[in-house]
Amino acid sequence: MIGVLASGNGSNLQALLDARLPISAVASNRKDAFALERARGANVPTATFGLECHPNREERDLVMATWLEAHGVELVVLAGYMHLLTKPFLDRFPSAIVNVHPSLLPDFPGAHAIEDALAAGVDETGVTVHWVDEGLDTGSVIRQAPVPVEPRATLEERIHATEHQLLPSVIRELIAA
Ligand code: GAR
Repeated sequence: MIGVLASGNGSNLQALLDARLPISAVASNRKDAFALERARGANVPTATFGLECHPNREERDLVMATWLEAHGVELVVLAGYMHLLTKPFLDRFPSAIVNVHPSLLPDFPGAHAIEDALAAGVDETGVTVHWVDEGLDTGSVIRQAPVPVEPRATLEERIHATEHQLLPSVIRELIAA
């Protein structure tokens, strides 16, 4: 079973739901994340683990890991989850946490990858699906898809469309393996 962590709009979560992947739980660090609404719309259990409710990140991550395990989660997908995961969480899901990122890593890690690529003036950027480690968008790459920067006005839209193809297809392969 797949658990998804998301902090925002949740369009990548929606792509996973639309692909009929076996998602048993969706968690967020923000109770107002639209991703939670999408999960509820698909009758998937949701929970919020805000930092304000826990003494520190490690404690929050432990409680979140326990909740995911209780929902049978074996593979965790970060779909726009904007907090770094701490070691206690990583240790509970060894080699079983995947992230989608809107650049060709190792270029443009962090929370503003699309803007950073535009500002850098590169001709090509793209999407990366990778394993998650303790670093910021640093784990080993599973698959990448290039996206031309021009036309710049539609880059964001084309990156998201690419994510919505790439992420479900990689996750489908991982759970079949
Ligand atoms: C996606 O573009 C995802 O790649 C990015 O956040 C967006 C979330 O969109 N993640 C990162 O930048 C992680 N470093 P969504 O909420 O609509 O899926």
